[in-house]
Amino acid sequence: MNKIQILKPDDWHLHLRDAEALKRTVTDVASHIHRAIIMPNLVPPVTTVSEAQAYRDRILAHKNKTSFSPLMTLYLTDNTTVDEIKAAGDSPFVVACKLYPAGATTNSDSGVTDVTKLDKVFEAMTEAGLILCIHGEVTDNDVDIFDREKVFIERHLKPITDRHPNLKIVLEHITTQDAVDFVLESSDNIAATITAHHLILNRNDLLSGGIKPDYYCLPILKRQAHQKRLQNIVLESHPKFFFGSDSAPHGQHKKYNACGCAGIYTAPVMLCLLAEFFEQHQSLSHFEPFVSRYGAHFYNLPLSDESITLTKESWSVPSKLPFGDDEIVPFFAGKQLSWRICDV
Ligand code: DOR
Ligand code: ZN
Repeated sequence: MNKIQILKPDDWHLHLRDAEALKRTVTDVASHIHRAIIMPNLVPPVTTVSEAQAYRDRILAHKNKTSFSPLMTLYLTDNTTVDEIKAAGDSPFVVACKLYPAGATTNSDSGVTDVTKLDKVFEAMTEAGLILCIHGEVTDNDVDIFDREKVFIERHLKPITDRHPNLKIVLEHITTQDAVDFVLESSDNIAATITAHHLILNRNDLLSGGIKPDYYCLPILKRQAHQKRLQNIVLESHPKFFFGSDSAPHGQHKKYNACGCAGIYTAPVMLCLLAEFFEQHQSLSHFEPFVSRYGAHFYNLPLSDESITLTKESWSVPSKLPFGDDEIVPFFAGKQLSWRICDV
């Protein structure tokens, strides 16, 4: 097959950052992504509806003539109030709240220190029909970084789902067999996003033969058996597992230093990479449900009425891209991709 046309995809987990960065990050998705869940981990974080609305306006200023639609999220803290959740439920723009355990990842210092104290907030979210997006990793230094997702599921997620069975939850950017099993065993209110990079890479790519800062992200890449489980569930095309890129830009000087930031900038290549992934596994027909259908269904939103076309045409990914007053190295920099998105 040399051409595929699919409904315009959604990205159910995207970092756009703010200010100078928006020119790059919004442009890199706006023409081929219909809607995106915009992560709120700015500095300071987006914790109120009015901040989310102002942030949305700054994003929209860069969408040009595209139909790109940012779906906003609130960042939960120890001080999030039930009133703010109610206001979020009334807002046409805010569709979800993001739970970052404090210290789990980039810009999560204001995150939640004790999830057991959020019951009132979770009740208000259930009432308001807001979705809970979770960065599912414990932060304890005595838990091995490769086990943090599994331990979070046992210690925190299972109790949350037991106490709040009607709350819709997306376990974000899952990386383990444990997460796949948990989502499969849970009710239809529990789903998961999967990134392109966690499908394509495992921890050998990060660590074997030299450390690759460009492949450092959180949750950290896991061993191959976990990667295979993610691949299989996506290739089987299961509606509880849909695409969230977690495309997360960091300027080169923040990534390549003694304490490099976590995050992989996949936005310019993610759909082409996924087309290649599905094609290599003789499953191209499962590409569209993963990127354009299952997430909309879970979020109870209509499917896109636009489409995009990809053609079989080789191109090389730029080695660097301008990023404010810095540069950014996109995922797959300098490598060849075999699918290209046609200009609209
Ligand atoms: O690798 C990551 N980068 N994981 C996250 O959870 C956050 C993200 C970021 O914001 O840079
Ligand atoms: Zn993220």
